Amino acid sequence: MNPANAPSALDPLYPLREFLADMTRLVSRTDSEPELLAQARPLLARLLAQPDWLPDAYAHAEPGIYRQYLLYCDPLERFSVVSFVWGPGASTPVHDHMVWGLVGVLKGAEVCCEFELDGPDRVRPTTIDHVLRQGMIEAVSPTVGDWHQVRNALSDTDSVSIHVYGGNIGSVRRHRVDPATGQVLDFISGYTSEHLPNLWDRSAAVRAVST
Ligand code: FE2
Repeated sequence: MNPANAPSALDPLYPLREFLADMTRLVSRTDSEPELLAQARPLLARLLAQPDWLPDAYAHAEPGIYRQYLLYCDPLERFSVVSFVWGPGASTPVHDHMVWGLVGVLKGAEVCCEFELDGPDRVRPTTIDHVLRQGMIEAVSPTVGDWHQVRNALSDTDSVSIHVYGGNIGSVRRHRVDPATGQVLDFISGYTSEHLPNLWDRSAAVRAVST
């Protein structure tokens, strides 16, 4: 390995860049959802096990609010990676994804409940609430189960999870449940962030390697 492109305190985004490189190789190798879910899981687990790589700008939300920060999107939109941040007390609506995805907790803990369609425009829960803690990963997709609701398990601090999806998730037409009426509605989430992390300024690490 080029010593200027190796894990280094001077290159805090190395773990994310390594994950993205491996994901790019994976989606270039297969478009089989079972293979993608199985083979992406250990890559995400390795990313979750590494501390302090997520910039602060992508790791905060206000109380009662959740934020979805785009960290990267594959140029061919074969996958995207987001940091999803729940402020204290924040909860998503019940929603689906319409593409495969892996959800892994980076910091804190999240409470998840899964649902399924119950008729054309209603959903019903299929699990009781369960807690996802740091390092735990769950899969979603229309094949393996696509509907859930997720909330911060902690009342006094943010919780952060890293999600990888089989598409440009912020631009996917999806569905959510209107909490007031229980009706299933279309939505397209977009992203909270207008800027992405600068993955490519490795200059400090390069300067530190003697020639
Ligand atoms: Fe979700």
